[in-house]
Amino acid sequence: MEDRKQQQREAFRADDPTAGPLTTDQGVEVDHTDDSLSVGERGPTLMEDFHFREKLTRFDHERIPERVVHARGAGAYGYFEPYESCAEFTRAAFLQDPAVRTPVFVRFSTVQGPKGSADTVRDVRGFATKFYTSEGNYDLVGNNFPVFFIQDGIKFPDFVHAVKPEPHNDIPTGASAHDTLWDFVSLQPETLHAIMWLMSDRAIPRSYRMMQGFGVHTFRFVTAEGRGTFVKFHWKPKLGVHSLVWDEAQECQGRDPDFNRRDLWDAIEAGEYPEWELGVQLVPEEDEFAFDFDLLDATKIIPEEQVPVRPIGRMVLNRNPENFFAETEQVAFHTANVVPGIDFTNDPLLQARNFSYLDTQLIRLGGPNFTQIPVNRPVAPVRTNQRDGYHQSTIHRGTNYFPNSLGGGCPAHAGVDGSAYTHYAERVDGAKIRRRSASFQDHYTQPAMFWNSMADWEKQHIVEAFRFELGKVGAKSVRARTVEHLAKVNGGLATEVARGIGVPEPSATQAADKLSSPALSLESLRGEGSV
Ligand code: HEM
Repeated sequence: MEDRKQQQREAFRADDPTAGPLTTDQGVEVDHTDDSLSVGERGPTLMEDFHFREKLTRFDHERIPERVVHARGAGAYGYFEPYESCAEFTRAAFLQDPAVRTPVFVRFSTVQGPKGSADTVRDVRGFATKFYTSEGNYDLVGNNFPVFFIQDGIKFPDFVHAVKPEPHNDIPTGASAHDTLWDFVSLQPETLHAIMWLMSDRAIPRSYRMMQGFGVHTFRFVTAEGRGTFVKFHWKPKLGVHSLVWDEAQECQGRDPDFNRRDLWDAIEAGEYPEWELGVQLVPEEDEFAFDFDLLDATKIIPEEQVPVRPIGRMVLNRNPENFFAETEQVAFHTANVVPGIDFTNDPLLQARNFSYLDTQLIRLGGPNFTQIPVNRPVAPVRTNQRDGYHQSTIHRGTNYFPNSLGGGCPAHAGVDGSAYTHYAERVDGAKIRRRSASFQDHYTQPAMFWNSMADWEKQHIVEAFRFELGKVGAKSVRARTVEHLAKVNGGLATEVARGIGVPEPSATQAADKLSSPALSLESLRGEGSV
């Protein structure tokens, strides 16, 4: 089956470097690249040596800013195909015909560390997919946790500043934990649900091939008739979900910091193509308020007992990129890259993301023309009146304005044949306020649900993780405040964590709900707060 993205990439490949002699950027053949041009054997190097100057200048300019978050990643190409037509709930063209394969590029990442950090750290993993659809690019920019740490994007800079190392020395405070992160957590209990996931084995995946992915936010599907349905996206790996244990994760950091990216690369090279099933949780518009949480709150899941996940298609990754920088580093995902049939909700975290990604990419990728970089270029035709800017590589023809009676410029689409993007006609009205619905304040019900769904050994790992991370926080007040929040999630959890990190145990009533299995003696855990 033809892969339109692969065909497009062919056109951008550099000439075969082994096919002829070295040249300059101007195509002039170079006879010598080992000695600069000088006056005599011991004289100064001459400015006129244009090859020498070009070689050094180009080297000096090789680096670009790394992503402000998710800097370390690995990517691969592949395809997506739906199982059957989804016309009943979305008009998105790539979800209509099981015979149509849509090319994709996926980038997996860690969040906190810089580009050169280790793979197997305790962290969230990014799971971002670019679908090169016939109607334009659609990006599903997800994570391997179904919930996020904050509810409103205005807090994102605060959250990320707390997560990143200290500004004065670029080292996290405490022995290896982040005092600043735990300070933020203890003062912002909306982080707790994601923190429970972070302390669980989900935060140290065995392989990118064995990771779930989640769109996190509630999005909207829209049919050809304009009917909306709320939707949550889920990727499920065919190989199942597998994690490392903490000891293994730490050892990998030393022995093979590229453990996860190597695994992905090697599997694809060996023809062991990783595969995921895309599933959706669908909620009719009329059921918007049928839950005891708000669908617009990204710290909450929709329990699968309430809304089952419906499988709608599968994705296979079958080709490694040919150049890490050109493709994996320069790929630019954006939550606002949507296609007809997929729309947003008023989730305040999603709304912030819809601003942030393009904004950051304008600086990271050096101006507005990064959509012309091969990995970002749609396979759908692009016709805009946007012009110029740094790194313009398209030779536009004609005039570039609308309306236009002189034979140029792109006409606006009347949308009569249904192919243009039309925004969902949501009715909104209300006063301008800085407040969300009351259920945004419930920070404990779903973390408790998560804890209660764990097997005993999973609970044990979570307690160990809290002891390891929180136990290194210098400020006892931060430890104690975090334990107080944990007591509202589960008394037994809080007690066990408190015992391991030298802070007072929560009160008897708070701690009444002990760990489920009496046979599980956490006192026997190795390390008691340090592994
Ligand atoms: C990357 C902002 C929340 C998933 C990024 C980047 C920024 C950003 C600025 C770097 C993008 C680039 O340089 O190309 C934000 C803001 C958020 C937010 C402001 C909240 C208001 C989330 C959430 C998720 C997520 C909730 C998951 C559902 C990702 C992923 C990447 C990323 C996967 C890496 C994309 C790649 O591989 O290139 N984010 N983010 N982010 N973000 Fe977010």
